[in-house]
Amino acid sequence: MKDVSILNEMIFSASTENELQEKFKDIYHRINNESEYDDSGSVEFLPLPRLNSHSERSEVQDIISVVIESGFFTSGPYIGKVEETLRLFYGAHTCIATSSGTDALKIALKSVGVEPGDEVIVPLNSFAATENAVMAVGAVPVFANIDSSFNMLPDEVDRLRTSKTKAVLPVCLYGSCMYIDAIHRIARKADIPVIVDAAQCFGIRSLISHCDLLALSFNPFKNIGSLGKSGAVLTLSPELARLARQYSYHGFAEGKKNIKAQNWGLNSRMDNLQAATLSVKLHHFENNASILFKKLKKVFVYKKKHGFTPFYAKCLLIKMCQYEKINL
Ligand SMILES: Cc1ncc(COP(=O)(O)O)c(C=O)c1O
Repeated sequence: MKDVSILNEMIFSASTENELQEKFKDIYHRINNESEYDDSGSVEFLPLPRLNSHSERSEVQDIISVVIESGFFTSGPYIGKVEETLRLFYGAHTCIATSSGTDALKIALKSVGVEPGDEVIVPLNSFAATENAVMAVGAVPVFANIDSSFNMLPDEVDRLRTSKTKAVLPVCLYGSCMYIDAIHRIARKADIPVIVDAAQCFGIRSLISHCDLLALSFNPFKNIGSLGKSGAVLTLSPELARLARQYSYHGFAEGKKNIKAQNWGLNSRMDNLQAATLSVKLHHFENNASILFKKLKKVFVYKKKHGFTPFYAKCLLIKMCQYEKINL
């Protein structure tokens, strides 16, 4: 179903729950019978060709051609563009585009001063990248308990902290960020910096004020993905921003290539090529988000007229809550 407006028309023309159920069956069959990518007529568990929509694909192809023509594959203009888009979106002081979410975590850990032998409190369940980033900078991950929401419990910070604890690194696993504000409050009281691993929850703006550094991933399987590995670090702090920039690129002082401000740093700037592909995806995200808001308005009008919220609209509301889960 290439055009979502067809789907909208089908849904919003229904005036009873029964009629809606029938429409859903129809939509379900239409989607499953799509043979555009897959001749079997069924939807695969993870249909890779569907990671990018038709319009995203053609725009990405165009922008890749522009980059090829320009010859700017590593550094280049799209990096700054993406950084500015993300900075504005999160209301951050600075965004540093990185070559992966894992490197974003390493940069954040170095920036808050984590050194070999230090301890970092992490939830006991996450993707391996979280603990690996801690170990990559020579520190020791200390595993905190979670509850059935898969979120790290805030009280674990006080239970596990020692004189060696140099950071707390909660993860918004599957997009959930239930206790981040409480974790931040407790850690701040104990004077321990907080880095939020937001690799799985792009779009929750309020997180920026519940941490010292926010780490994002834009690998192709995340909510918003480039056409390869990439990530970002965001912060409200000018000082942490300065350090993060240095650690993201060989320890060089900002804008001074080959002049080191740190003993070492990663070669971890986002490639211009990936930044170009990501700029297309972010643009689509902004459009989709504004379409979503418009649809939400329609939902309210519909409810007023017909006295119930269609199932599709309920799904929409859940999605909206994911994007705008402001009240942490
Ligand atoms: C929770 C979490 N943290 C970190 C990462 C690392 O991100 P990347 O694959 O961009 O290095 C991922 C995803 O892979 C992740 O799911």
